[in-house]
Amino acid sequence: MTILITGGAGFIGANFVLDWLASSDEPVVNLDLLTYAGNLENLASLAGDPRHVFAQGDICDRAFVDSLFARHHPRAVVHFAAESHVDRSIHGPADFVRTNIEGTFTLLEAARAYWSGLAASARLDFRFLHVSTDEVYGSLGADDAPFSETTPYTPNSPYSASKAASDHLVRAWHHTYGLPVLTTNCSNNYGGYQFPEKLIPLVINNVLGGKPLPIYGDGKNVRDWLYVGDHCAAIREVLARGRVGETYNIGGWNEKTNLEIVHAICNLLDELAPNPQRPRSLDLITYVKDRPGHDRRYAIDARKIEHELGWRPSETFETGIRKTVAWYLAHQEWVGHILSGEYKQWIEKQYENQD
Ligand code: NAD
Ligand code: TYD
Repeated sequence: MTILITGGAGFIGANFVLDWLASSDEPVVNLDLLTYAGNLENLASLAGDPRHVFAQGDICDRAFVDSLFARHHPRAVVHFAAESHVDRSIHGPADFVRTNIEGTFTLLEAARAYWSGLAASARLDFRFLHVSTDEVYGSLGADDAPFSETTPYTPNSPYSASKAASDHLVRAWHHTYGLPVLTTNCSNNYGGYQFPEKLIPLVINNVLGGKPLPIYGDGKNVRDWLYVGDHCAAIREVLARGRVGETYNIGGWNEKTNLEIVHAICNLLDELAPNPQRPRSLDLITYVKDRPGHDRRYAIDARKIEHELGWRPSETFETGIRKTVAWYLAHQEWVGHILSGEYKQWIEKQYENQD
């Protein structure tokens, strides 16, 4: 038995592969294009491990995807590959439409062709798990109930619109063709191996470099934050026992404003990595121009996955953020390799000429 993972060299995908192989001997075929966000260094601990087969390629390349199905006969697909950063989707939406929509379409078609040719019992057992986001549900007001699985889709950014489109394709491939799909919609993840364009690793990095901490708008936008290991555990549960055709919301029961997140990181870094040469962390906070169309609040009602599958997050925000800050302090070499030309260009494009 084998599972096919897409995007397994990115942040959540790499955490998933590492966790999977730490608790199971079932091999993983890892299909990843290695865009700016994909990094084989995330999987360095698997070098020489025959349970991990890396296949560099594009989920939009039907012939290549077909060849992986034919060669490895996976019993399931776990689909992480995507363009994932909202700010990049504002600067350049085309890659998001291509990878998130066309790529998911190509993968669904390849999976459908493969699944149709399986023997009856293998067809029953096959699963296509699509990893999606809470951002498809749009933005909540301060007093609105959290997103549930029946909240209507109202995506607001090119990123969330492209993920919403991919969710609809997955649903339709089940409804029309009977493909045994599962969809998960998760809140903001944090933890080791996250590319430092996203808020938490960016802030850790900037504090350590004595650089400004850019807060969009008033800093009071709210996100629900979940430790990445808890997300990976939830996906394993849904894959093993989720009801075919269902969607599951995954969240941390942990709403925080961006300012609360930044304060927590500053305090932890002052404790874990004090350095009198550096400016005081909190003094680095700098308010910058707001993100266009910035969603105000996301919150997840994760009762369905708890009631049906017994999953709950095991980390609190306090334990998860402490682990995360410690991880970045212990992996400064990993961070150093990422701070390459491409990352520098992104930071210049995104944060220069800001108020
Ligand atoms: P990421 O940007 O860190 O990684 C994406 C990975 O996909 C990279 O390894 C990249 O090389 C690969 N990839 C991109 N385009 C590809 C293509 N055309 N073909 C093959 N591989 C390609 O993303 P992430 O944060 O790990 O997110 C993974 C998934 O989880 C995404 O689908 C995202 O929408 C979803 N998600 C993320 C979060 C979050 O907070 N990061 C929350 C909920 C859901
Ligand atoms: P991000 O990590 O990009 O995730 P998402 O947009 O998918 O929620 O951003 C999290 C929050 O932090 C979001 O409200 C935007 C805000 N943010 C900043 O204030 N400054 C920054 O430099 C970044 C990257 C994000």
